[in-house]
Amino acid sequence: MNTNATHQEATGGATPGWWTEAVIYQIYPRSFADADGDGVGDLPGITARLDHLADLGVDAIWLSPFYPSPQADAGYDVADYRGVEPLFGTLSDADRLIAEAKARGLRVIVDLVPNHTSSAHVWFTEALAAAPGSAARQRYVFRDGRGPDGAEPPNDWQSVFGGPAWSRVTEPDGRPGQWYLHLFDSAQPDLNWDNPEVRAEFVDVLRFWLDRGVDGFRVDVAHGLIKQADLADWQEPQEILSGQEVDKPRPPMWDQDGVHDIYRQWRQVLDSYGSSADDGRILVAEAWVEPAERLARYVRPDEMHQAFNFEYLLAAWTAPAQYAVITRSLEATDAVGAPTTWVLSNHDVVRHASRLGLPVGTPRPNGIGIGDPQPDAALGLRRARAATLLMLALPGSAYLYQGEELGLPEHTTLPDEVRQDPTFRRTGGAHRGRDGCRVPIPWEADAPSYGFGPTDASWLPQPPSWAEYALDRQRGVPGSTYELYRGALRLRREHGLGRGTLRWRESPDTVLSFTNGGLTVLTNFGPDPVPLPAGAQVVQASAPLDDAGRVPTDATVWYR
Ligand code: GLC
Repeated sequence: MNTNATHQEATGGATPGWWTEAVIYQIYPRSFADADGDGVGDLPGITARLDHLADLGVDAIWLSPFYPSPQADAGYDVADYRGVEPLFGTLSDADRLIAEAKARGLRVIVDLVPNHTSSAHVWFTEALAAAPGSAARQRYVFRDGRGPDGAEPPNDWQSVFGGPAWSRVTEPDGRPGQWYLHLFDSAQPDLNWDNPEVRAEFVDVLRFWLDRGVDGFRVDVAHGLIKQADLADWQEPQEILSGQEVDKPRPPMWDQDGVHDIYRQWRQVLDSYGSSADDGRILVAEAWVEPAERLARYVRPDEMHQAFNFEYLLAAWTAPAQYAVITRSLEATDAVGAPTTWVLSNHDVVRHASRLGLPVGTPRPNGIGIGDPQPDAALGLRRARAATLLMLALPGSAYLYQGEELGLPEHTTLPDEVRQDPTFRRTGGAHRGRDGCRVPIPWEADAPSYGFGPTDASWLPQPPSWAEYALDRQRGVPGSTYELYRGALRLRREHGLGRGTLRWRESPDTVLSFTNGGLTVLTNFGPDPVPLPAGAQVVQASAPLDDAGRVPTDATVWYR
């Protein structure tokens, strides 16, 4: 790669703190470990498996929502922000999980879902029972419909999950009435963040969990809380990504400037619990905002600490695309003194071991199912290992998603009948949705449900091919994906890569190479093997070198 860009060096973070270099492991509670054998993962299951995460060598865990919820969107529909869903356990189970994690040196981040509540939340029940214009309705976004009988939605917005973003209610007197906004499922009414009562409530929720000892919050749909005041029509197709070319108008539901006041207030609350490098409590934005400069506004010094780097996740597997996104990401966050973050998989996207097995340039699929073009599993895993080794060498903080340390692929042949993601239903099956990355993960090859729980039960079926990915087939096996992750995390820590300085090296067009923390990193995206300099001592490799000691296609090496 010709790396003659202005940005030759970047640190990935100016203000040091544990979070600036942390590797944070996402746990999706439904699918991590099931202690009671009902087929749905739970908090005691997670606690019992914490040693795995300590052995792996991550710094923190982030738990997707475990709060009381009808599970219309797998827990991102919260009915009570201060409790635990009985499916997952009790509040004492949460306390125990936090304590046991800390005892192993693992910090704990919980999910906060402020854009919308569940329709089962007491506030929404009150709003339905109350009159138009009442205080109870003003906690949400209720409007009269358009057209003579108010029978048309108030505007043309579409839900991220498909279909209209408005649903009409039946008024207490039995007549068809107002409409309420839901950018996601109809069971997820959007809150009205212009209402001071809503703001006060969430400050209190922050305190509730901070008092229980959590180290921070991952903030769901952080770019959606404030809507353009006139709720203007938006003709474009709806996407969670604000998708902004700099010269295009901004969608009226995403990335409005007003959201930043909310995060400034929250930052003050968090800082009152600790703000030093060691005891800082952090806010992480899930904000699908582009370009990187716009995203960087969420991590200005008095706002959040981190934002997920989805532009990185979405970048194509080519040397120029990876070079461009890494450079842009570092520049944008350096400009505001925040750490860059890196992420390849989560509970909303096709796992990278499968995504990278699709032809380069394939648009990001929203799930893969029977009859869809299937990824090349071997190629996907090979590239996923190379991509992870590249990512873990970058300065900044990195997010891992449960199961990726096993090289786990997406379940790409789930029968449609078992799908639970509302996206599938709301798009009439046009989008398969996100169930394929949420399948319970395999721990023991020969146990029922591959050791996910004590029984065969699993809320989504696990494919028969998953025995080979089970942790017990990989632990202690040289070259396994698990040992690759574990080794890379150890070296990353030893060499201080997360707080290091990236310096690009000149390389051919299909190769990326840089130094960081005394190591040189090289990824070969091209068809031909690439020789290493004489005397290079390889300390980690995503694939074996060829007989001539060269780096093969789709492989990353770290060497001294
Ligand atoms: C976020 C979550 C996703 C959820 C949505 C609505 O994007 O990551 O899983 O469906 O918000 O809460």
